[in-house]
Amino acid sequence: MELFIDTADVEEIRKAADWGIIDGVTTNPSLMAKAGRTTRDAIAEIISIVDGPISAEVIATESKAMIEEGRALADIHPNIVIKLPLTMDGIKALKWFSSHDIKTNLTLVFSPNQALLAAKCGATYISPFIGRLDDNGHHGMALIEEIRVIFDNYNFSTKILAASIRSPQHVREAALAASDVATVPFKILKDLFFHPLTDKGVETFLNDYKKITAK
Ligand code: E4P
Repeated sequence: MELFIDTADVEEIRKAADWGIIDGVTTNPSLMAKAGRTTRDAIAEIISIVDGPISAEVIATESKAMIEEGRALADIHPNIVIKLPLTMDGIKALKWFSSHDIKTNLTLVFSPNQALLAAKCGATYISPFIGRLDDNGHHGMALIEEIRVIFDNYNFSTKILAASIRSPQHVREAALAASDVATVPFKILKDLFFHPLTDKGVETFLNDYKKITAK
C-alpha cells in the first residue's frame, strides 16, 4: 500500500519525506487554511519536496469553473492531481480531465455507488472518508472493503485512496482491505514506527553488548 501524507504544512512534509516513506501528498482547502497558504503557493513548494502525486483541490463548485481552476493547477507540474468533490458537477469535470489525460482524485466519497460513478468516468483516485463515517456512527472501513470488491469485479484501474484516517489502526485495516493508498496525517505517520517491544528490545541488545566491552 502506498502512503501519502495528508497535510499542507511543508515542514511536516519535509520531515516525513526525510523518513523515506512518503509516496505522495494530499491537501484540501481546510488544510490550506490551517497552514495559512493558498493552494497555488503551497503546491509550488510541495512539488520541490516530494516527487510523487500531489493532490490539489478546486474550490469552484460548478463544472466549468472546476475545469478552469483545475487546468491552471495541472499546468504547475505533471505530478499535480486535481481533487474534485464527488458531486454531479465534479463528475462532469472529471470526464473532461479524464479525456485530457489529467490525473484526478474524487474526494468526499461516502458510498460504493459514488465510487462506481467515479471509476466509470476514469478517476485516477477516489478518496473514501473513513474517519468521518466512523464519526457519524458507520463502520468506515466497510466502505473500502465494498469498493475493493466492485473495482476488482470490473477491473477498474481507479485507485482506492483511504482518507480521513484517524489512527494507526485505520492504516492497518486499510492495508488489510487492500486499499491502494492511505493518506495519513503527520502525527499518525510518526506513530506507525513505534512499538514498545521494539524500544525495549533495542535497550536489551545494547545493554547486553555493553557487557562484552566492559570485560
Ligand atoms: C483527504 O484527502 C482529506 O484531505 C482528509 O483525509 C480529510 O480528513 P478529515 O476527515 O480528518 O478532515
